[in-house]
Order: sequence, then structure tokens, then C-alpha cells
Amino acid sequence: MKKVNTKNHTCLEIFAKQTADGGKVRVLSRNADGSVQSVEKLAGRTYFAWLKIPLKQNTDYEIYSEECEVSLCYLSGSGDMLEEGVCYLEKNPADDRFYVPDQAAWYDRPSRESYHFSPWKNWMNDPNGLCWFQGYYHMFYQFNPHGQQWSNMYWGHAASRDLVHWVHFPVVLAPQEEILERPEEWKGGAFSGCAVASEEEVVFYLTRHKGPLQDGEDTVEQQWMMKSRDMIHFSEETCVIGQPPEGASFDFRDPKVLRANDRWYMALGSAIEGKGAILLYESRDGEQWEYVHPLLVEEREEVRCFECPDFMELDGKYVAIGAWMEHRDECGRYQMSRYYTGTWHNREFEIESDGWFDFGSNCYAMQSFAHQGRRISIGWISDFYEEHAADENGAYGSMTIPRELHVKNGKLYMTPVREMDLLKGEALAQGRGENLSLPKIEGNAYRAEIKFDKNTCFTILLGKDKERELSLVNDKDGLRLVTKGVKSEGIRFRADVEEVRTLEIYVDGRTAEVYVNEGEAAGTKVFYNSSADGCFALDAEAPEHVAWVEVAGMKSIWH
Ligand code: FRU
Repeated sequence: MKKVNTKNHTCLEIFAKQTADGGKVRVLSRNADGSVQSVEKLAGRTYFAWLKIPLKQNTDYEIYSEECEVSLCYLSGSGDMLEEGVCYLEKNPADDRFYVPDQAAWYDRPSRESYHFSPWKNWMNDPNGLCWFQGYYHMFYQFNPHGQQWSNMYWGHAASRDLVHWVHFPVVLAPQEEILERPEEWKGGAFSGCAVASEEEVVFYLTRHKGPLQDGEDTVEQQWMMKSRDMIHFSEETCVIGQPPEGASFDFRDPKVLRANDRWYMALGSAIEGKGAILLYESRDGEQWEYVHPLLVEEREEVRCFECPDFMELDGKYVAIGAWMEHRDECGRYQMSRYYTGTWHNREFEIESDGWFDFGSNCYAMQSFAHQGRRISIGWISDFYEEHAADENGAYGSMTIPRELHVKNGKLYMTPVREMDLLKGEALAQGRGENLSLPKIEGNAYRAEIKFDKNTCFTILLGKDKERELSLVNDKDGLRLVTKGVKSEGIRFRADVEEVRTLEIYVDGRTAEVYVNEGEAAGTKVFYNSSADGCFALDAEAPEHVAWVEVAGMKSIWH
């Protein structure tokens, strides 16, 4: 019989929903005298109840569920939570018992990334509450623990010492119960938000959304605050902004808070008179907030609202970034994010320049935080062209590589954080003055670095699965990601660069990220491969201008 040993953990957290009356979760252990001790908990009747069952450490348990569906299950409450995180359990269909799958093997499949963060399973979107606190980077994220599609929102949580290896933590926030109880009427939950970390505590701001299934005037979005002193226990939430200001739309969400000049400033995504806008609030203490005015209004039409705005000081400038909801650009790209750089005096943001945040358009809702002089951002690898290949027990959504941001000559630069070098494995091939082709890269997790001594036309094949292809092309129409045989075919994923001198390309299962000219542009694109092997083929028109090319394997972050 399958047993689970709790080791340092003291709690079983399990999301369970009845499939028949009386459906429940059972946990059995054996006392020293051989007698059996059993604990039972009823699963939710109409929705997945979040059950928590206390357990003893270093004890063997038999865990099983009867007449209920379990969406997510893990052991938590270790004395050393920050280092150990949770231990996920999965049900073995053969005997209905839960067991501990091997984490590295769990993530090791063609449809998943191995060195980009993604949840254990199911749907994930925006990064939330990014911060560094007492030795750890923390990342929260929009999470549906129950399936591979967006639904009422929870906050997932993970932490890392080095920004690349992540440890999973318990779920933090759940949707309001009234929403879970009436899914045919309401949707919502704990929407996106941010964290402000000081030495002793972290203050979180987030949106609580409750509204009809179709967004509209009955949609209610409010800003809430919560705190933590250890990132394991979280205070109750309190509402700090109950309604949008006059003239702003019901889209009123995703607070991002910045502390500057003894004041707290909050950027909120919204729209004013049908134009996407970022609203500015101000506070002396982080608790009482007053509306100031729009930080910026996007004059170009057809942006329903800004989602997940960010506002930061960077390299002597101020930078606002926001995701353009429901907008399609002239290249056919959907929901791009835009950055604006400029100055900020007397609470007025004067824009000097702007540009696209990510030319691949599969990077959404980026969020940044500052730590030890660096401004680090992480974005959600989204799939607006619906190219997702569902996979049993798989995940839908992942995070970009953490990027270090800079402003140079009014342009936003983005480079992978230097910690990515920790993951570099063996060089698979190197060369100069010639083209390079690796038709079979086992595991499909690699980094390619290329230097050109002169701008030259090229095609670089990054993914191929039967007639489906992803490549990076540079020719008279400029640099762009090109897809073939998938839904995004025909869309121009074009980078705003004049010429190409360096490329850093990360391919990882269903994801490719391209960094151009040491950060001048970055592009993210999903591409599903049914096989576990990947490929790389550099085909430059004038290979003599290839000053250096190297392809190296990348290690999984889940070992
Ligand atoms: C962006 C977004 C946010 C919202 C969250 C809900 O992807 O729509 O505006 O807070 O996702 O999951």
C-alpha cells in the first residue's frame, strides 16, 4: 500500500469537490500499538473546498479520496518552509492513493518549460507581489488550481534564493466564497497586485474582483491591502480603495505601489472616456489613499484599459509600462505592452519616448521590483493566439526569464539577469565564420549566443514539428519572429531595431525568448513541439559575418 511520509511537514492541503454525496478525503496512520487512526473531511459540495488536515511530522500516512475530484494537493507547514516549500502529491489512478512524484520528472515533458518558472499544474497568469524579503525573492501569481483555463483567481506563491531556482509555496489567497458558490452568476477573485517590502514586513496591494460573467457596469473592482512578516502567514485583507474615481471605467485594477519622497504612489490600470489610462493615487502611510489624476492616458484608440501597469524610477528617468487590453496593432499582434519613459515632477509624468515592451507579444502583465540597485522584471508568458496544446496534468502559462531593465537614450533595455548563467550546461556546438545546424537537441532546453560583425540577413530555425515552425528572420523587412503552420502564422512579430549585432536566444520546451543587441529588444513566443527534442539552425546569407555562435544546453531548475 502506498504511503506518504510527511518528513518535516505538518499539514495536508487539498482542494476537493464531491462527485457524489458524502465525497471525502481520508487520511490514515498507524499508532505505535498497531491501531489505525483515521481522519476524514468532506469535500466541497458545489466547488473545490480548500481542506487543511493537520498531520504529524515524520509519519507515514495513507491518503486517499472517495467520490470526489481533487484538483491540487500538497504537504505544507514545514518548520523550514522557506527552504523546503510544499511537497506536491498526486493520485495514483491504479489504487486511488496519493504518492509523491519526482519533481524533475514531473516537469520533464515536451509541453513544459524546464528552466522557466511554471506552476506544478494548471492555469497561471500574471506575476504578482514580486519582491525580495529577508534573503528570498518572492513571486506570487494569478492561479487557477482547478484546471488549465482561466477561472476564479487564487494567488499561487513561490520563492527563490537566486531568481532562477524556485520552491513552491502554499496557495495564499482564494476567491470570495460568494463567487465560488454561484459560478453561473459571478466570476472574480483575488486579482493582480504588488508587494512593497521593507526590512520587517511586506505590504501587499491587490484587486478584489466581483462581477457578472460578462464584464460591464455591474463589475466591481476594489483595491485591498494585506501584510506579512514572514511570507508564510498573511494578515486579513482590508479595503483601501472602494470605487473608481469619477469618469474612470469599471476596469479599475492591478495596483502597483512605489515609495518616493516620503510618499506612497499607486498606479492603477483603467480607462477614461474610452481611452486606456493609468491612474495615480497618493498616500502618506500606505493606508489612506487619495486620487491625484491620470498618470497617463493613451491617445491611440482601441485600448480597452491598461492592465497591470508599472511605474518606476530607472536610470535617472521615470518609466511607466502597461498592457494594452483588447488592442491589435498594425502587425496583427494582440495585447502588446507599451513602455513610456520620461520625467516626473510635481506628480506630473512628462513622456519623452515610448516603445513596445516585447515584440513577440506572448509576454504580458510584466511586473518589476528593485533589489540592490537592480530593477528586475518578470512577465507572464501568455498565449493570445490560442496555440496551447493541453496535456494531462500539464500547466498553461509560465513566467519569462527575470529581466534586468535599463533606460538608454530613451529606450528600454532588457537583458536576462546574470543568474541565468548558473543554468548554462555544456556547449553543444561553437563556431565562427560559418553557419551552424543542430537538427536534434535532446530535451529542447538551450541557449544560443550569436555575434555578427556586420548586420546580415539570416534565418534561425528555433522550432520544427512536422510542418509547424518557429524561426527568427532578419532581412529587408527587419528582424522578426516568424511562425508557420500555427494560428499566429502571418502576424508580424517585428523588433524595433535598425540592425542586429548580438542575439541571446533561450529555447525551453514550449517557449522561446530572444534578446537582441544586449537588450535593445526582447521577444517572447510560445511554440509547442510534440517531441522532446528541439533544433537550432543558423542560416546567415553571409556566414563570414558570424563573429561567434555557440549553442549550450540549459539545466532544469526543478532538480
Ligand atoms: C491581466 C489580468 C489583470 C487581472 C488578472 C485577472 O492578465 O486580466 O488585469 O488582475 O489578469 O486574472
